[in-house]
Amino acid sequence: MDILIKNIKGLVQVREQSLKWVAGADMANLPVIENAYLHIKDDKIADYGAMDTIPSINADEEIDATGRFVFPSFVDSHTHLVFAASREEEFVYKIRGMSYEEIAAKGGGILNSAKKLQATSEDELFERALVRANEIIGFGTGAVEIKSGYGLTVEDEMKMLRVAKRIGRETPLAVKTTFLGAHAVPKHYTNKQDYIDVVVNEMIPAVAEEGLADYIDAFCEKGFFTPDETEFIMEAGKKYGMKPKIHANQLSISGGVQVGVKTGALSVDHLEVMDQEAIDALVGTEVMPTMLPGAAFYLGTSYPPARDMINAGLPLALATDYNPGSAPCGKMAFMLSLACIRMKMTPEEAINAATINTAYAIDLSDTYGSITKGKTASVFITKEIPSYAFIPYAFGSDVIDQVILKGEVVN
Ligand code: NIG
Ligand code: FE
Repeated sequence: MDILIKNIKGLVQVREQSLKWVAGADMANLPVIENAYLHIKDDKIADYGAMDTIPSINADEEIDATGRFVFPSFVDSHTHLVFAASREEEFVYKIRGMSYEEIAAKGGGILNSAKKLQATSEDELFERALVRANEIIGFGTGAVEIKSGYGLTVEDEMKMLRVAKRIGRETPLAVKTTFLGAHAVPKHYTNKQDYIDVVVNEMIPAVAEEGLADYIDAFCEKGFFTPDETEFIMEAGKKYGMKPKIHANQLSISGGVQVGVKTGALSVDHLEVMDQEAIDALVGTEVMPTMLPGAAFYLGTSYPPARDMINAGLPLALATDYNPGSAPCGKMAFMLSLACIRMKMTPEEAINAATINTAYAIDLSDTYGSITKGKTASVFITKEIPSYAFIPYAFGSDVIDQVILKGEVVN
């Protein structure tokens, strides 16, 4: 199938060569071709350029994008979108003044989600996750990372990861999976080390045996897993070929960033609470600092110090953290708004963070994150809007008109 998109007002994020990431001052540069065309052949980007250079192309389908922008699909490098149920009861506790930690200590939080997930069959879990997968497709996401971490038993963690894998087979999303057995310690373990032993000696080998996870994660936070425990779990995962991606510095200076650097993590995610030491630790490494401002918005915590990190020359990535407890939102455009409005990033920086840099954070730099010849043809077409900055600016508007994933028009 050949698709030709013509008269594009702005073809956004065009990179002749695929890049590893954009960092520091370079994050401000977002290459756009005005009045452009894009030629999709099968599931790949075949060609693009300015309309006055368009060759004659015999396409099966032509789309006139007058007044509209074309973007590479968003890459959402951090989600927990496989879950059994939403948690509005905790939302109300939170409104009445309870903190995230207090809700968790009361048997809410992650353990509440685990109880519901354990009681849900794999097929039913898939049906519920599929609704969210289709929802984010409509929001312009083309590639997504999905974590386990609401199972907390060998069988239930595997169930979650099988569901995540099935999302990758039965939708046009590219899916990467992360094993997060070390998300919380189930109540019946009186000794945390006993649970860590199950994670390391039982869950990791079983997950690896079925090839269910690309990455290994842990919630490195006070009341959850210490830096030493996190490091131990990351090293155990690495032995089975899972690269570390760590929940770090969400509620406190947890030391998770430094563990990420030490274990060669692909990314450290959250970073709401950073100090100069944590920023310095990331400079010159291959670890992608990833911000999840939906969680800061929902929990009312501080936001990551994005400007300080950009000034330190770091790359930054931007993802949703879509989950029932701290970020019940899978809309990448809203993350762009939060990045611009609350973290003082420019629209160009935020768009780079949500495309090229998140593609790096799930090892998809060669196929996603930019309009580049040979990359996967996963793009979205906006409605008629005045500029691409309108997307983060108009934070409540629905700006996406059409979605093409792997060369197929999906809506
Ligand atoms: O990324 N912080 C840890 N895990 C999730 C929240 C999980 C939950 O509350 O269900 C997060 O914010
Ligand atoms: Fe998360």
